[in-house]
Parts: sequence; C-alpha cells; structure tokens
Amino acid sequence: MSRVVDDWWGRPIVASLPRLFLDHFWSTSTVVEDDRRPVAFLVGFLSPSEPGKAYIHFVGVDPEHRGAGLGRDLYERFFAMARERGATEVSAVTSPINTGSIAFHRTMGFDVSDPIDGYDQPGAALVHFHRDL
Ligand SMILES: CC(C)(COP(=O)(O)OP(=O)(O)OC[C@H]1O[C@@H](n2cnc3c(N)ncnc32)[C@H](O)[C@@H]1OP(=O)(O)O)[C@@H](O)C(=O)NCCC(=O)NCCS
Repeated sequence: MSRVVDDWWGRPIVASLPRLFLDHFWSTSTVVEDDRRPVAFLVGFLSPSEPGKAYIHFVGVDPEHRGAGLGRDLYERFFAMARERGATEVSAVTSPINTGSIAFHRTMGFDVSDPIDGYDQPGAALVHFHRDL
C-alpha cells in the first residue's frame, strides 16, 4: 500500500498511513487485492475512547478501477460492520483541495463541513465529514 498511495492520491500522502493503523486496526480495515497487489483499501476503526463513533482514516481505489463501485462497496461493508459492533455515527476528514473525495462522501450520505482552519495544525484546513449509521 505504501508503494501506491502517493500515485493514487497524486500527491505525497504516505506519511499519513503509518503501519500502526494496519497493526492495530486490521480487523476493521479491508484491502482488495488483484494478483497480490492492492486495488482498493479502507482503513477505519471504532473509537476506543468514544463509544459509538466510527472513523474512516483512509480510503483509496486504484485510478484504473475508479467509478466501478469499489469505494461504495468498501464504505457499505464498513458501515455494516460498524453498526454490528454498536457504532451509530461515522466521520472522516479530507483536504479542501480533494474535490473528488468531497463529491464521493456527499454521494455516500455524509454531511460536509466548510474547511476548518487549523484542524490538525496551524495554517492547514481540513473538511470534516459526518453521517449517522
Ligand atoms: C474517492 C474514491 C475512493 C472513490 O472511489 P470509487 O471506487 O471511484 O467510487 P465509486 O465508484 O464507488 O463511487 C461511489 C459514488 O460516488 C461518486 N463519486 C466517486 N468519485 C467521484 C468524483 N470524483 N466526483 C463525483 N462523484 C464521485 C460516484 O459517482 C458514485 O455515485 P453512485 O453510486 O450514486 O453512482 C477514489 O476516487 C480515490 O481513491 N480517490 C483518491 C484517494 C482519495 O482521495 N481518498 C479519499 C480521501 S482519504
């Protein structure tokens, strides 16, 4: 996954996906493979500190496989798993420049915030997504 994400996002993003997410949240994450290469993945978890809240940290689909429903399928599977485990809401964030992600999340039923300045660090805004499960 670390070999493909910068290409898939079109910008350096690999530092946002340290292996701790896979070491500790593999049971709530999914990788779709073709011939042992990742084609799509979702990294998410149920908050250990905020019961009922699920969070999607990363979702990516190989550019050659976009528009075929893989992103929707990964989200719907995550929603079903999170509901089964007692979650009632799910959230995620993205960069305001990621208009494709914003459109995708709107289609998937998320409320989309205005860009929030300094969300993670001074000078960097993020858009927050939220939906009930
Ligand atoms: C965002 C992303 C995961 C979508 O994956 P995908 O497999 O192409 O999405 P799907 O084919 O399942 O589309 C699901 C719905 O979202 C809509 N959608 C997806 N991408 C869209 C875009 N760029 N613009 C507008 N609508 C979009 C589709 O039209 C579809 O609607 P429908 O089901 O009503 O027909 C993919 O474009 C991607 O990997 N982008 C780069 C990584 C990224 O930005 N990830 C999100 C931030 S962490």
